[in-house]
Amino acid sequence: DQIEKGGYDHFMLKEIHEQPKAIIDTYRGRMLPNEGLIKMSGIDDNLNKFLNANRIIIIACGTSWHAGLVGEYLLEDMARIPVEVEYASEFRYRNPIITPNDVVIAISQSGETADTLAAIKLAKSKGAFVFGICNVVGSSIARETHAGAYTHAGPEIGVASTKAFTTQITVLTLISLKLAKAKGTMSDSAFRMYLQKMQLIPAKIEGLLKIDEKVKEIAAVYKDAKNCLYLGRGFNFPVALEGALKLKEISYIHAEGYPAAEMKHGPIALIDENMPIFVIATNKGHYEKVVSNIQEIKSRSGKIIAIVTEGDVQVREIADHVIEIPETEEALTPLLTTIPFQLLSYHVAVMLGKNVDQPRNLAKSVTVE
Ligand code: G6P
Repeated sequence: DQIEKGGYDHFMLKEIHEQPKAIIDTYRGRMLPNEGLIKMSGIDDNLNKFLNANRIIIIACGTSWHAGLVGEYLLEDMARIPVEVEYASEFRYRNPIITPNDVVIAISQSGETADTLAAIKLAKSKGAFVFGICNVVGSSIARETHAGAYTHAGPEIGVASTKAFTTQITVLTLISLKLAKAKGTMSDSAFRMYLQKMQLIPAKIEGLLKIDEKVKEIAAVYKDAKNCLYLGRGFNFPVALEGALKLKEISYIHAEGYPAAEMKHGPIALIDENMPIFVIATNKGHYEKVVSNIQEIKSRSGKIIAIVTEGDVQVREIADHVIEIPETEEALTPLLTTIPFQLLSYHVAVMLGKNVDQPRNLAKSVTVE
């Protein structure tokens, strides 16, 4: 067991640290910045299906569903294709409208989640083209889909998903860029710029992993909180959901993720001096709006832990703690903003003495419906 953990105390920590390599493994051979190309056989062979799609429906559960939400923002922004993201369990039981002109993307780390598998079968029976994004090679979902792209994250043992999430986002980014180029919704220069920036992401994550001590200090301050709120906007709204999920999964602290602007429609009532609020406030994507959300929290005495872009001054002045991420394109920030939240949940759970790799009541793969 110790050998398998590669010197780390837990699989989850090992897997968090494996992310730079996992992302490289996922884009290697697919993303060719020098040629200005993305090659993905599952897309290349079925390009017309994607280009002629009325819409894309993404189906998944849990963390994979959060990756799907990031995918919605990416696909709509870059490739201008309408996207809906559905929980597999809701989709399959609500008599959904699916036509042969729909493309379904099913996302699953294990490739064995029962509801996702059943939703795929339903979509196929209605004539939709179904594309899979799975981590486990040869899994049921990989076999059941018409085409797909594997994430090359390697085995993920920790029940709380980490590297599967960032590699799923990597694949979704590649697909979005590829379709944007094919549709002409992105200029060639922007496309090439994105490939260059994507290539810098693993080193940036490597750098972020070095702030572990700082995250640990923050974890020590808030580990006894009963409730936490995670806020983000745009591309980082799904990251807020995922941050909250990571915390509740392994530390059993109640946490909720919310789009920052929705705070006013409910969660603001909960804010007092005992409430830690994690806010993604990177300098792109409605920065001023997020700053005003932070001021609203501050005036209600909430504790603010903000994820900001390196060199930020405005948020630093009002937040109780800041965690800096390196600069990148807004659409790529989820790959970075996610990392401190993973580390934070990990440290809180360890400090509380919880079983990090096998949290109570949870399974790595839910094969019952
Ligand atoms: C379980 C796991 C989660 C995972 C979800 C979906 O709930 O504990 O980590 O995100 O299933 O699993 P999948 O293998 O389909 O991505």
